[in-house]
Amino acid sequence: MKLNIVCIPGDGIGPEVVAEAKKVLNAVADKYGHEMSFTDILMGGASIDACGEPLTDEAIATAKAADAVLMGSIGGNTSTSPWYKLPSHLRPEAGLLKLRKALNLFANLRPANLYEELKEACPLRDDIIGDGFDMMIMRELTGGLYFGERSTKEVDGVMTAVDTLTYNEDEIRRIAIKGFDIAMKRRKKVTSVDKANVLDSSRLWRKVVEEVAKDYPEVTLEHMLVDNCAMQLVKNPRQFDVILTENMFGDILSDEASKVTGSIGMLASASLNDTKFGLYEPSGGSAPDIAGMGIANPIATILSAAMMLRYSFDLDAEADAIEKAVKKVLEENYRTIDIMPQEEDKKATVTQIGTAKMGDLIAERI
Ligand code: IPM
Ligand code: MG
Repeated sequence: MKLNIVCIPGDGIGPEVVAEAKKVLNAVADKYGHEMSFTDILMGGASIDACGEPLTDEAIATAKAADAVLMGSIGGNTSTSPWYKLPSHLRPEAGLLKLRKALNLFANLRPANLYEELKEACPLRDDIIGDGFDMMIMRELTGGLYFGERSTKEVDGVMTAVDTLTYNEDEIRRIAIKGFDIAMKRRKKVTSVDKANVLDSSRLWRKVVEEVAKDYPEVTLEHMLVDNCAMQLVKNPRQFDVILTENMFGDILSDEASKVTGSIGMLASASLNDTKFGLYEPSGGSAPDIAGMGIANPIATILSAAMMLRYSFDLDAEADAIEKAVKKVLEENYRTIDIMPQEEDKKATVTQIGTAKMGDLIAERI
């Protein structure tokens, strides 16, 4: 199969982790006889530095013409980087939001599962971890607070900032359908997360989700308020299968879920539209504090590449091969610094390695 992949290395640790994912994809291409071409585009701070804006129209056109996009991460230190002195529409994150909107990537899938081998890195108590957990956060990605009108201006002599949270029923319906479809392939439970005790947008969300649920009689639907969900994720993460939620709640809850699994460096993600096209990226950020040190965990990006093979190209065997190779390397007790055991005496039982070595080992095991 011929796969035309556009890569966005981006900022911070992005270029380091994308390089490892490419390594692994090349190993897959060799083994399974696929032809993969990679084209890089700039986004975020890298694009601001080179082109004066976080994402150019040419870059969007290149991404649109691809079969799928593989991204690292964008952005820098929000207190020290000169990028954050720019007006908000020229900052690194604006590039990513523009791309999500331009490609209509409304469905963001963020799986969070606990690897048996990483139980030692999980901050939860053993009795809470039990035999592990496996959930999928389905985050709406092109609506809500991220894309509503905003302004900062003086009102009656007082500086006042406004962000608006808007959802229409069609936007809610299409993400709910994706959520229920995914649940049908999993343990058939959807937890729809909202703040319906306060927000109108959440009350509409709940109503539409209930309508969609009628078409999925096999799926159990429950509603949960977002503050309670934040608590339940650390109290009893095993209760969750699919968490279906709006943009901002999903942003926050997916970081929390990833930490519960041991490290944000393990969490992959897929952002999909109504076609087979998707953008795949680690859920974590650009980690400017460790950029260039060669210690970032590339596994989330490598697993995102596996999601790409599965969702955009229907290459299930190839995706399985990547996921198995990752598991194998963990079983062989190789760890990047972020997934080292927390207790001193357990540290000696594993080998700490850097980004490139982790990529090499996974590629070798394809
Ligand atoms: C994420 C990130 C982005 C988001 C930022 C970089 C705009 O935190 O993908 O979770 O908030 O969506
Ligand atoms: Mg986030």
